[in-house]
Amino acid sequence: MSSTPPPAASATIAVVGAGRLGRVLAQALEAAGYTVHGPLRRRQGIPDADIVLLCVPDSAIPDVAADARPRARLVGHVSGATPLTHVDFSVHPLQTFTGREGPEAFRGIGVAIDGRTRTARKTAERLALALGAKPFIVDDAHRASYHAAASFASNFVLTVLDAAEHLGRDAGLDRAHLAPLVRQTVDNWLAHGASNALTGPLTRGDEATVERQRAAASALDLAPLFDALATATREIAARSADGDAPVHLTPAKDPA
Ligand SMILES: NC(=O)c1ccc[n+]([C@@H]2O[C@H](COP(=O)([O-])OP(=O)(O)OC[C@H]3O[C@@H](n4cnc5c(N)ncnc54)[C@H](OP(=O)(O)O)[C@@H]3O)[C@@H](O)[C@H]2O)c1
Repeated sequence: MSSTPPPAASATIAVVGAGRLGRVLAQALEAAGYTVHGPLRRRQGIPDADIVLLCVPDSAIPDVAADARPRARLVGHVSGATPLTHVDFSVHPLQTFTGREGPEAFRGIGVAIDGRTRTARKTAERLALALGAKPFIVDDAHRASYHAAASFASNFVLTVLDAAEHLGRDAGLDRAHLAPLVRQTVDNWLAHGASNALTGPLTRGDEATVERQRAAASALDLAPLFDALATATREIAARSADGDAPVHLTPAKDPA
């Protein structure tokens, strides 16, 4: 393993990719005191820098990493799903970004990190800490389940909320009516786990009510989604509270 010290806090960082995350990350790294080039668009080229951070779609990582390699001491990506095959380290913020957030968006959030060497991993940790985030290690063997968990927690939640919005429209509901219910549900899940937080007709065994709900969902072509969610929800309802023990993240620490 390399014993080269990680780039100092005064390091230069080229952020490649001016999309949703690249825009916010470049601003935040600058606010944290780094000298930042970018976010760089496709045709701007990659300048010499201590670190090149790839904020491009996962499929572009191999090619852009090869372009970046001669320009930098370390090359990293911000992808949760992509292994370290083509880069030295990864820094994946466990948050959703639209590109409109400010530099404070990273404060207090979890950031999954890993590196191929001790120096690279230390660099990833330093970047996360400089952003005010909480780094934890996710290695290549666990990336798929880690990233699937993130999709369930964010992308698929939106899928379900969109269905709720469509179903509620008939009854005069809008997103503002539904939001307190969503927030309280998340708070209850966080505090007690899903099986303890679960309420509603499926937990009470009110099957006639479930059937009426299904008919309403069916009218909006939502029956397949309703059925899949009802099946999964019945399993949660049947689960013992022990199934919802809190999850402990592995804190980032220097390997010996
Ligand atoms: N958005 C999030 O919430 C989020 C959260 C955590 C991690 N991430 C990670 O961030 C990375 C980027 O995601 P994103 O959501 O920011 O995607 P995005 O909004 O689609 O942005 C990707 C950017 O990369 C640019 N790009 C593509 N190929 C390039 C190249 N060869 N050279 C320079 N720029 C290039 C694209 O430019 P064009 O428009 O010209 O193609 C686009 O501006 C992914 O690895 C993703 O997993 C995103």
